[in-house]
Amino acid sequence: MIGFNEKDGILHADGVPLSAIAKDYGTPAYVYSAGAIRAQYTALSGAMKAALPENRQPMLCYACKANSNIAVLRVLQQMGSGLEIVSEGELHRGLKAGFDPEKIVSTGVGKQAREIRECLKAGIHQFNVESLPELEHIQQIAAQMGKVAKVVFRLNPNVTGGGHHKISTGRDRDKFGISRERVIEGFEMARDMSHVEALGLSMHIGSQIFTVESFKEAFEKLPDIVGELRELGFAIERLDIGGGFPIIYDDEKLLDLSAYARWVNDIVEPLGTEIIMEPGRYMVGNAGVLLSEVLYVKETKDRSFLVIDAAMNDLIRPTLYDAYHGIEAVSGRDTVMTTYDVVGPICETGDTFSVGRTLPTMKTGDLAVIKSAGAYGFCMASNYNTRPLPPEILVDGDKHAVIRERQSYEDLMGGDIIPDFIK
Ligand code: LLP
Repeated sequence: MIGFNEKDGILHADGVPLSAIAKDYGTPAYVYSAGAIRAQYTALSGAMKAALPENRQPMLCYACKANSNIAVLRVLQQMGSGLEIVSEGELHRGLKAGFDPEKIVSTGVGKQAREIRECLKAGIHQFNVESLPELEHIQQIAAQMGKVAKVVFRLNPNVTGGGHHKISTGRDRDKFGISRERVIEGFEMARDMSHVEALGLSMHIGSQIFTVESFKEAFEKLPDIVGELRELGFAIERLDIGGGFPIIYDDEKLLDLSAYARWVNDIVEPLGTEIIMEPGRYMVGNAGVLLSEVLYVKETKDRSFLVIDAAMNDLIRPTLYDAYHGIEAVSGRDTVMTTYDVVGPICETGDTFSVGRTLPTMKTGDLAVIKSAGAYGFCMASNYNTRPLPPEILVDGDKHAVIRERQSYEDLMGGDIIPDFIK
């Protein structure tokens, strides 16, 4: 696991023992390795550098829905990354982290007026438009502001590619993107609009895509439609090919980045456009763990439950998507093994991280990590059962710091109001 390795029998994040992190910051806590994030960015940009000519490198726009902590964003901004955002909140985070607005792309099927306005004010690179009513809305707001909105249309390529059906986005039945016919209609509409400039296409077929040929299948739809649009007189200057690269959760074989980069070079590059990519999970997923302490070992007639202090409110992926996450003991790793069901304290049977997982035998107070939790972990956490959001810790070599404090009960409950009529 990049960034997380055993030294002297103890699992470390970079150079820091996770036992020390637990002591300093308590559990449960998300722990990220800055080095691992940088390594992921370098692996992806390096694969593109190796496959595409130097003057045709894609703009990597990190999809910050995967992990939007501002310190994490800063690490990627320093690497030269751009940003993909899906809300006004993500725009504010990106600007706070220092991203150049010219490297920000805005996606999403339900862009709101405020969000469009703030994006125009900041001067973002483009809006990836998901419907024709959205195009009209952007035109209307841009006209009010006296700005010209640069847009591309998100093409729905009708390709099945995502891991779980809940995160597949490129099929006809999905709410995302615009069909080929409608895209042409969009370009025609935009031609007559005063404050919109249509510059190209985008696509994103899903997330944790393991059938790597799905990428190729989707890319192969581009030359034809780009050709048709150009014949109709539309300038196609930008192609945004989305995200979706998988990471390792179990013992999957990692997506062959060089094959992916070759497809970009062979199929997309010859179209002569600017190329944009929107990787999220790949940048941060394997660079984070959820650190947790064993509360109890509960034996029943035929099961051993490891009740830990992290729960489904902290990391919802196992129960929401039946997602597999590796679990490891932080110390005592070479002792005899026991088969456990690893569960959290929440009053739902779904609050289960794994069933029948064989781990070193553990006891109350021992520490464990849930692995590959850097993406879609903290950012999907909730306060269910009135549990405070966990802290986030960033480790960089031997240095470590809290990059988001554990939520206090005051913060958690401070927004609740008892109205006068029931006082
Ligand atoms: N671009 C667009 C338009 C997207 O909708 C997404 C992810 C990405 C880029 C980044 O995809 P990635 O490279 O991370 O696969 N919560 C789910 C994943 C939802 C993905 C949503 N869209 C999970 O925990 O698996």
